[in-house]
Amino acid sequence: MAARVPEPPRVLLCLAALLARWVAAELEAVAIGEARENVTLHCGNVSGARGPVTWYRDDSEPVFLVSSNSSLPPADPRFSLVNASSLHIEALSLRDEGNYTCGEVLNETRWSQVWLQVASGPYEVEVNISTTGRLPNGTLYAAKGSQVDFSCASSSRPPPMVEWWFRAPDSRTEPFGNNLTVSSFTLLLMSQNLQGNYTCLAMNMLSRRHRKVTTELLVYSPPLSDLECWAEMSPGLSVLQLTCRWDGGYPDPYLVWTEEPGGAVVGTSGLGVETLNRSQLSDGKKFKCIGSHIVGPESGASCVIQIRSPSLLSEPMKTCFVGSNVTLTCHVSGAYPPAKILWLRNLTQPEVVIQPNSHYLITHNGPSSTLTIQNCSQDLDEGYYVCRAENPVGVREVDIWLSVKEPLNIVGIVGTIVSLLLLGVAIISGLMLYYSPVFCWKLGNTIRGQDMADVMVLVDEEEEEVEEEEEYAAGQEEEDEEEEEAAADREELPKEIPKHVHIHRVTALVNGNIDWMANGLQALQDDSGEQQSDLAQEEDRPV
Ligand SMILES: *[C@@H]1O[C@H](CO)[C@@H](O)[C@H](O)[C@H]1NC(C)=O
Ligand SMILES: *[C@@H]1O[C@H](CO)[C@@H](O)[C@H](O)[C@H]1NC(C)=O
Ligand SMILES: *[C@@H]1O[C@H](CO)[C@@H](O)[C@H](O)[C@H]1NC(C)=O
Ligand SMILES: *[C@@H]1O[C@H](CO)[C@@H](O)[C@H](O)[C@H]1NC(C)=O
Ligand SMILES: *[C@@H]1O[C@H](CO)[C@@H](O)[C@H](O)[C@H]1NC(C)=O
Ligand SMILES: *[C@@H]1O[C@H](CO)[C@@H](O)[C@H](O)[C@H]1NC(C)=O
Ligand SMILES: *[C@@H]1O[C@H](CO)[C@@H](O)[C@H](O)[C@H]1NC(C)=O
Ligand SMILES: *[C@@H]1O[C@H](CO)[C@@H](O)[C@H](O)[C@H]1NC(C)=O
Ligand SMILES: *[C@@H]1O[C@H](CO)[C@@H](O)[C@H](O)[C@H]1NC(C)=O
Ligand SMILES: *[C@@H]1O[C@H](CO)[C@@H](O)[C@H](O)[C@H]1NC(C)=O
Ligand SMILES: *[C@@H]1O[C@H](CO)[C@@H](O)[C@H](O)[C@H]1NC(C)=O
Ligand SMILES: *[C@@H]1O[C@H](CO)[C@@H](O)[C@H](O)[C@H]1NC(C)=O
Repeated sequence: MAARVPEPPRVLLCLAALLARWVAAELEAVAIGEARENVTLHCGNVSGARGPVTWYRDDSEPVFLVSSNSSLPPADPRFSLVNASSLHIEALSLRDEGNYTCGEVLNETRWSQVWLQVASGPYEVEVNISTTGRLPNGTLYAAKGSQVDFSCASSSRPPPMVEWWFRAPDSRTEPFGNNLTVSSFTLLLMSQNLQGNYTCLAMNMLSRRHRKVTTELLVYSPPLSDLECWAEMSPGLSVLQLTCRWDGGYPDPYLVWTEEPGGAVVGTSGLGVETLNRSQLSDGKKFKCIGSHIVGPESGASCVIQIRSPSLLSEPMKTCFVGSNVTLTCHVSGAYPPAKILWLRNLTQPEVVIQPNSHYLITHNGPSSTLTIQNCSQDLDEGYYVCRAENPVGVREVDIWLSVKEPLNIVGIVGTIVSLLLLGVAIISGLMLYYSPVFCWKLGNTIRGQDMADVMVLVDEEEEEVEEEEEYAAGQEEEDEEEEEAAADREELPKEIPKHVHIHRVTALVNGNIDWMANGLQALQDDSGEQQSDLAQEEDRPV
């Protein structure tokens, strides 16, 4: 530039001499330009009509740049005059920074100086956040509790001011670090409230040019709870719902159901809830839920369920007395998901589901169900009852036969049994005596011991009168044994009396002769009433 200056040395000398004076006097103007941009420097602060203007650059000595005298060409095509007084410099470079002086010729030449500062950048900001990972869409995420380093780099002239800003969702942007020009920092324990957008701002304080980079950072946390899974049936029984949950994490985990074995995937939602219809179910089939979380355990988590059709346990038959209550019980086992239990009445062909009412009482208690039929009636209630357990995997039924009977007198039943027993024993003993009396006596003696002595005496005395009857007396003796225990008093009585009584009684029994019987009863007057009533009852049936 200096080489091309065609300036008269007079002017330059004059300028050099005057510079110090005017520059010191006037407030120095500062112009700021940016590299690669254009800049316009004004000559003085006066607007309006002006005199001829010449621009110089102040180096070690002034260098002519451009003049309003058209016969003097500019030192460089980048320099030109605009509005007849201002210096326009195109495509600034850092070398253009310096002091410029203009001389305006009016009545006298006025000098003014402009200090041109050239700023550059920042054009780029490099942000580096050391996190756990990056999502497929580019978003960064960090695990809760982890350490995250932030750094921001940018170059400019003069060096930029770098600031970090943070904006959480639904809140204002806030600065990090009290307006310091921090370029890097570390967050030691990431937490959910540190999720948001991190912005690094680099600003050239000269040109106010700034660049910023915003990075979204998500803070993820693994599920806190254990993976849980279960199956339940839909209200309609037709479909099975598999549910898998793994709570407490952010974002939601990915949960997928597979069939075991084989691992065929059931459904594709990834939400852990799938419905299966009956065609996909079979007894004993297993399903596995596999959960994975982006910051959870690397191996994930899983749980397995096995579906089972119900098994039923119940008594096959029940009896109810007319007018009383009866309870049928049905116990389900093995069913998964738990089975629904229904009671049905198998009276005629179409089965009818029993609804609870004043006659039927249905109670479900866990895997058991009871049906209580109140006030049994033979016509209405006798028949088959069906207990049905059903889940989406299968249905089981069990039939229970209910018979309804007239109530019986307990005393009557006992009496009947005892007299039947007696009769049987009597007949057998009689037959034995008839065919081999001697054997019987001997046998009797050995077995009966002292007791038998009574009988011996009895038979000896009455032998002529009662011949065949004795045979039965032997049998009767067995019953006496029991009676003797109950009535010990009788044993103390003289032996002849009870012996006599016995014989008469036996006679009456065998012959069914009312007269004999009457005699016997008369003879028994002294005896206990208890015995009489027993006799009377025994008479009822066998005869
Ligand atoms: C600089 O000035 C020249 C001519 O006056 C113009 O063509 C160019 O577009 C300008 N450049 C900028 C960046 O303004
Ligand atoms: C020009 O500069 C002088 C001295 O610095 C000042 O007094 C004056 O107000 C300025 N005029 C304009 C128009 O800026
Ligand atoms: C312009 O410059 C030429 C050459 O230096 C000079 O002869 C002429 O007088 C100047 N014109 C004015 C008006 O200063
Ligand atoms: C030239 O002067 C006009 C009017 O005074 C003004 O509007 C314009 O901005 C000036 N141009 C430059 C480059 O200063
Ligand atoms: C311009 O002048 C000012 C004061 O007059 C001085 O401080 C500054 O360093 C000068 N600039 C250059 C590039 O020489
Ligand atoms: C130049 O100076 C003369 C005398 O000092 C004055 O009368 C005249 O107005 C001035 N002209 C300008 C343009 O300042
Ligand atoms: C990237 O994906 C995550 C999770 O799906 C989402 O929260 C985030 O907003 C996405 N980011 C962009 C830039 O799409
Ligand atoms: C963070 O920035 C993304 C785009 O970069 C924007 O979609 C999202 O809303 C911002 N979030 C906040 C909390 O400002
Ligand atoms: C930082 O300080 C400067 C000046 O001291 C001020 O203009 C700016 O607003 C401040 N920034 C923040 C974020 O406080
Ligand atoms: C049961 O599910 C399978 C597979 O999803 C489907 O192909 C079939 O049509 C379904 N059957 C019924 C009765 O809904
Ligand atoms: C049958 O059950 C009902 C209701 O529990 C009760 O009031 C009634 O006394 C019972 N009847 C019999 C005979 O136990
Ligand atoms: C009723 O039960 C009997 C005996 O189990 C069975 O044979 C018959 O098929 C049943 N009837 C109906 C309609 O289920």
